[in-house]
Amino acid sequence: MSFSFCMSGLVLLYWVWLGVSRSVTAASPPPHIVLIVADDFGWNDVGYHGSEIRTPNLDKLSAHGVRLDSYYVQPVCTPSRSQLLSGRYQIHTGLQHMTIRPCQPNCHPLGDKLLPQLLNETGYVTHLVGKWHLGMYKQDCLPTRRGFETFFGYLNCSEDYYTHEMCYYKKALNTTYCALDLLDGEVPTSDYRMKYSTHIFTERAVDLIANHNLEKPLFLYLAYQAVHEPMQVPEKYTEPYTFIQDNNRRVYAGMVSALDEAVGNVTDALIKQGLWDNIVFIFTTDNGGQTQAGGSNWPLRGRKITAWEGGVRGVGFVTSPLLKQKGVTSKELIQISDWLPTLVNLAGGSTNSTKPLDGFDVWKTISEGSPSPRVELLHNIDPIFKDILPFFSSQTNIYLSKIILLSPFAGCGNWSPSSSISSEILSPDPVNKTLWLFDIIRDPEERHDLSDKYPHVVKKLLSRLEFYYNDSVPVYFPEDDPRCDPRHSGVWGPWE
Ligand SMILES: *[C@@H]1O[C@H](CO)[C@@H](O)[C@H](O)[C@H]1NC(C)=O
Ligand SMILES: *[C@@H]1O[C@H](CO)[C@@H](O)[C@H](O)[C@H]1NC(C)=O
Ligand SMILES: *[C@@H]1O[C@H](CO)[C@@H](O)[C@H](O)[C@H]1NC(C)=O
Ligand SMILES: *[C@@H]1O[C@H](CO)[C@@H](O)[C@H](O)[C@H]1NC(C)=O
Ligand SMILES: *[C@@H]1O[C@H](CO)[C@@H](O)[C@H](O)[C@H]1NC(C)=O
Ligand SMILES: *[C@@H]1O[C@H](CO)[C@@H](O)[C@H](O)[C@H]1NC(C)=O
Ligand SMILES: *[C@@H]1O[C@H](CO)[C@@H](O)[C@H](O)[C@H]1NC(C)=O
Repeated sequence: MSFSFCMSGLVLLYWVWLGVSRSVTAASPPPHIVLIVADDFGWNDVGYHGSEIRTPNLDKLSAHGVRLDSYYVQPVCTPSRSQLLSGRYQIHTGLQHMTIRPCQPNCHPLGDKLLPQLLNETGYVTHLVGKWHLGMYKQDCLPTRRGFETFFGYLNCSEDYYTHEMCYYKKALNTTYCALDLLDGEVPTSDYRMKYSTHIFTERAVDLIANHNLEKPLFLYLAYQAVHEPMQVPEKYTEPYTFIQDNNRRVYAGMVSALDEAVGNVTDALIKQGLWDNIVFIFTTDNGGQTQAGGSNWPLRGRKITAWEGGVRGVGFVTSPLLKQKGVTSKELIQISDWLPTLVNLAGGSTNSTKPLDGFDVWKTISEGSPSPRVELLHNIDPIFKDILPFFSSQTNIYLSKIILLSPFAGCGNWSPSSSISSEILSPDPVNKTLWLFDIIRDPEERHDLSDKYPHVVKKLLSRLEFYYNDSVPVYFPEDDPRCDPRHSGVWGPWE
């Protein structure tokens, strides 16, 4: 049982903060960094986790690298992307509550330095292809003002894969706003109408790679729309999956296959252009799979938006000639906020100018297999849900013993062996249950609540939660701004 480590864990936490150091010598040329994010890609949607979906490229790349097995992301888009690019928890950015909605006058705090800015400062050429979703209500929030030299992609959460239009239903007005959401730089473009997004983003990525000046290190953040709903893919990708009965799952499988092909194309381009010899290639999902839209996290419990393992335990791996260990699976605790310090240090940059980070440099853990400097992780504390203040929807792991506190109506702690709703294994818990304790190492499926058995562990974890709660900033979740209305211009974009 891992509980007894709680106290030493906290000591270790402190020790590591002091011990963070660069892991690459100043003399070695900084590596090219390619960071691919898949949207809503579930635990059971990658071949190497035993999925019926075929992902030969992801399987092969990860087999030559390090697969991350205790890797945690946030349960939804905006929080994961904001932690990825800032290295900071939601309790420190005000973005605790859900995602940034299209009409909210909000974006990731402008005072935070983001990963592309830090890499740009150290000499990197920085590109974003794909999804942003860190706010857009004014120009300063756009990716091109936040460290990316080029941007080709969309600003909101999701959209049509072909028309690149995004619709937003305004309940108060009983009106739906529909408009284009695809920009090249800061300019809306309709040149890609009816072209599938996985294809156009790959084409752009390959183009950027082909034109990259090899004298400079490259940072390519490739945030695919795939495999978020809507369920859309060119038919040829679903052809191998006629054996899948469920329609959503079959289309989803095709969407994953297109994504896997895309990853193959990008790696081919990197090899062809000679960037592969000095690359750090990362693949990550942003959150767990949406079981109601073809995704699967089986055998993990829960799904996207929930704090169960199915919502937050992510698919992720690293491939790089710089890795000292290859072909291994790391069981060490790693979280999406760890990429910023890890990558900035690898790049030979400095995090001196950032606000205090919640992420750790985990390069030695990934590359050499040394113990993770991270012994504890906070998923979130969302104070907007007041029904069990202050700890609703909050969850922490200490040495992989995990506590979950959820509002009775929010968690959806079912297991979904397939994406057909009728096959769901319902949570055995009474609807008013709000607190669970799990030993995640022995019980990754979260079947055995231990909170009654180990009240002292619950107490300890609650105290850690209180510590984090005390250290949090107020949540910022403004009302929609009617000026966002895209119907006059026909495109989504800044309105301030
Ligand atoms: C745009 O994102 C918001 C959440 O941020 C979501 O509610 C909305 O449905 C998205 N639009 C589409 C078309 O999915
Ligand atoms: C950093 O970004 C600025 C502004 O986009 C750009 O002019 C500069 O060339 C970038 N630095 C490098 C090393 O590419
Ligand atoms: C919303 O508008 C539609 C027609 O556009 C109408 O059928 C529906 O009743 C309206 N709903 C409400 C709640 O007003
Ligand atoms: C990958 O490249 C091939 C060959 O150029 C192309 O036909 C295919 O559409 C590309 N796939 C994706 C997902 O971009
Ligand atoms: C960052 O801070 C450390 C410790 O204070 C210092 O040694 C180092 O020179 C700083 N690096 C940069 C790039 O400012
Ligand atoms: C849930 O409801 C049951 C039956 O009403 C009650 O006995 C139990 O104490 C409640 N549990 C909690 C955690 O409120
Ligand atoms: C949180 O703040 C309260 C009020 O200041 C204090 O009593 C409590 O000890 C703090 N808890 C922790 C764990 O730091």
